[in-house]
Amino acid sequence: MSDPLKILELITQRQSDRKYSDREIEKEKLDRIIEAGRMAPSACNAQPWKFIVVTEPDLIKKVAEASSAKLLGMNSFVGQAPVILVVIREQPNFSSKIGGTIRKKDYSLIDIGIASENICLQAEAEGIGSCMIGWFDERKLQKILDIPIRKRVELIITLGYSLSEQREKRRKPFNETVSFNRY
Ligand SMILES: Cc1cc2nc3c(=O)[nH]c(=O)nc-3n(C[C@H](O)[C@H](O)[C@H](O)COP(=O)(O)O)c2cc1C
Repeated sequence: MSDPLKILELITQRQSDRKYSDREIEKEKLDRIIEAGRMAPSACNAQPWKFIVVTEPDLIKKVAEASSAKLLGMNSFVGQAPVILVVIREQPNFSSKIGGTIRKKDYSLIDIGIASENICLQAEAEGIGSCMIGWFDERKLQKILDIPIRKRVELIITLGYSLSEQREKRRKPFNETVSFNRY
């Protein structure tokens, strides 16, 4: 049984790190980080994901270019990361798809969010910084990484030893986001 205070501490400590050193991530740590994604729950256990682990410097550079916008100052840090995980949405299984159609929900997007947070939390536990990134040129990424055009790239996650300061969490007040028994 894990210490509940430690889990909350880990969750609170995880932050979007946007500055990395060039230190490599050890293979065993990276393996556990990926495993945390693979072990995530998903609707009907569909596991509608594929994680592309990008480690080649040339590809990192190209992925960084596809996810930054110089004019907006967006995501200019991506190229510093020694590893980038690219999260592809795969077809969910039949049950998840039927359930989602009946209930008018796309469970696979929810599943991908959960897997991605698992990845970031395991990274935090390994002493490695991360940042989920949703702003990128999807078509460019598909070309760079040979991703079939019909597959959606939902998120990329940068991983690396962080050089960012630990920040105070900025969250909406408890009463604005939580209620008991009624809306
Ligand atoms: C779906 C998603 C997309 C995001 N996209 C970006 C992004 O493109 N660039 C970026 O710098 N941060 C991105 N973030 C990070 C958020 O800005 C960050 O999680 C939020 O401000 C809360 O800060 P914290 O992660 O440090 O607690 C994204 C986060 C999520 C969950």
